[in-house]
Amino acid sequence: MKSKSVRLEDIEKKYGKNTVLKGINLEVEAGEFLVLLGPSGCGKTTTLRLVAGVERPDSGRIFIGGRDVTDLPPQRRNVSMVFQNYAIFPHMSVRDNIGFGLKMRGVDKVTIGKKVSEVSRLLKIENLLDRYPSQLSGGQRQRVAVARALATPFDVLLMDEPLSNLDALLRAEMRGELKRLHRKLQHTVIYVTHDQVEALTLGDRIAVMFDGEINQVGTPEEIYEYPENTRVAGFIGTPPMNLLEVEFDGEARVDGLEFHIPAKIRKFLETHGIKRFKLGFRPEYVELRRTGMSGTIVLRENIGYNEILNIQFGNHIVRAVTKRGEVRDNRVNFSVPEQHMRIFMNEKLVRDI
Ligand SMILES: Nc1ncnc2c1ncn2[C@@H]1O[C@H](COP(=O)(O)OP(=O)(O)OP(=O)(O)O)[C@@H](O)[C@H]1O
Ligand SMILES: [Mg+2]
Repeated sequence: MKSKSVRLEDIEKKYGKNTVLKGINLEVEAGEFLVLLGPSGCGKTTTLRLVAGVERPDSGRIFIGGRDVTDLPPQRRNVSMVFQNYAIFPHMSVRDNIGFGLKMRGVDKVTIGKKVSEVSRLLKIENLLDRYPSQLSGGQRQRVAVARALATPFDVLLMDEPLSNLDALLRAEMRGELKRLHRKLQHTVIYVTHDQVEALTLGDRIAVMFDGEINQVGTPEEIYEYPENTRVAGFIGTPPMNLLEVEFDGEARVDGLEFHIPAKIRKFLETHGIKRFKLGFRPEYVELRRTGMSGTIVLRENIGYNEILNIQFGNHIVRAVTKRGEVRDNRVNFSVPEQHMRIFMNEKLVRDI
């Protein structure tokens, strides 16, 4: 299986008066697993449909393997797609659904049979091959759609929330299978999800999208540690990054309460005459010691091994993740290590402090 790069250049897409893609630029390397992540309605499916060719952009160009495919019909793009509503043929058995793409290409029966059993084993649907879609559960249908996309030869694999209907256990298992498969085959994948755990575990890189615009493209580590803006910061992570509004006049204050800022950041703020900014830090990095700012725990959320402490600090709630049961008292002191503090000016991350 070859793999090819995908490039979107200044893509705009309108539905009536509504501009749903506002100048998308994205480069996916050959063999890369790129996750398109964003909230419902931000334009993920539209982007995939444009790459597949089932939808046309109003402006901009699309390249696959360096070739301009903007004006090519879907069947000439050599792209395989799992649609969000996993459209599988109702009048065909699971076996025929999976083998359909190969059959259309004139592949012989024996080869088709082998491929069908290979992918159905991978997706744990071997026992369903003789059933019809109406006799399947939603999660089973979804796996048939994934199997069919995998069985069909492609240069680029597009998947639109392919695991959304599976229970948590099966989803985690399938995620692992997809990851392993990608390691083995090194095919180019664009994978759409609004589930950030899926994005962080699967993606070589993640493109984070809001309202028809890509806000940041980076490795899971980059996106997690250095979110480009407060929107990305507030979307990634469970719970997401704490974002406090800070006033600075030599001392940093949050709702009038002093917040300890290390000398390096203080100096940066003074040098640039910054009086207001947003301070970001992840709940996982909050330290609960005897020293630091003091606040009151107003809610504890049990997440198994850990718990999320919701600490009232001024009018803000600071969230901290800690081992369950470790903090007993509801009055706590907390601090944030310098290397984990992020400064946002006009909602944008300030790098190189
Ligand atoms: N055929 C269409 N006609 C008009 N508007 C559409 C059409 N398809 C999508 N839209 C609108 O375009 C926007 C982007 O839709 P899209 O399906 O790409 O979102 P999405 O990111 O995939 O969301 P979700 O996570 O809910 O699947 C939405 O506001 C949607 O209502
Ligand atoms: Mg969608």
